[in-house]
Amino acid sequence: MENKTPKSILTAAQIILKSNYTIALIGAGLSVGSGIPTFRGAGGLWTKLGEPSGNAYESFLNNPTTWWNQNLNSKIDPERTKFRNAIEKAQPNSGHFALVELENINILKHQITQNIDNLHYAAGSNRVTEIHGNRTKLRCTTCESRWNREEFDRTFPLWQDVLPPKCQTCSGIIKPDTVMFGEPIPLSFLNSCINETNLADCILVIGTSATVYPAAGFPQEVLSSGGNIIEVNPEETPLSVFAASSVKGPTENSLPKLVKEIKRLITNDTV
Ligand code: APR
Repeated sequence: MENKTPKSILTAAQIILKSNYTIALIGAGLSVGSGIPTFRGAGGLWTKLGEPSGNAYESFLNNPTTWWNQNLNSKIDPERTKFRNAIEKAQPNSGHFALVELENINILKHQITQNIDNLHYAAGSNRVTEIHGNRTKLRCTTCESRWNREEFDRTFPLWQDVLPPKCQTCSGIIKPDTVMFGEPIPLSFLNSCINETNLADCILVIGTSATVYPAAGFPQEVLSSGGNIIEVNPEETPLSVFAASSVKGPTENSLPKLVKEIKRLITNDTV
């Protein structure tokens, strides 16, 4: 006997199908199914190491040559090494593929992800803004041009002899694309998030503790313009009380169920 669809999934599917422009705000929880730990909560990286304090970006700007030398040569602590190894071998999970399906049937218009693991693109998503950057890319701190790391190594093969790497377009200093603590969100990323949030009348808040701004503010924007929040998270978050539906459980299980229900309703045309 197939399990009955939880009411939260049925309600979520109905709201999404009645919406004109659904976007998603995504956090580390989506990648738990790919073996990447979260930052907060049980087993989280910051739970183990403590939230980073200070302004990493300021120290980078004060001495980018030293930063690059350390980044290329020094060992990092074991917990961060474990985290980095988990990301490097991670593959997209059923939650990522469920979001690709929603994008392909034009239900999910855009994904704002806080994750830097590149797994949305690896799964086949296209309409994505990586508000905290992408670990496989480098970015110019002035003109915000971005390169894949391998592409950059091909284009500037000797860059590691001449630090810090400089942008050939504007001579800006190049850094890893991942947004550092204390670093302003790159304007091109922020504008994309604001545009999508302004268009949305429904936002899926997936696998995020909704505690880091500006990302955590986007669902409130959608709500205050009369839209709906649908939360997909095994735990409660500060947004749960505002959610029109809260789909519990790990997203590697709950998102495929949500997509199946959406497709069933479309087929039966019973929205
Ligand atoms: N499926 C879905 N969600 C899950 C799962 C799972 N299997 N396991 C845990 N979660 C949820 C937790 O309940 C929590 O709400 O994922 C969320 C993870 O929260 P955080 O660790 O705070 O991650 P996130 O919200 O993405 O953090 C935001 O903080 O340090 C910065 O740059 C970092 O982008 C990150 C930002």
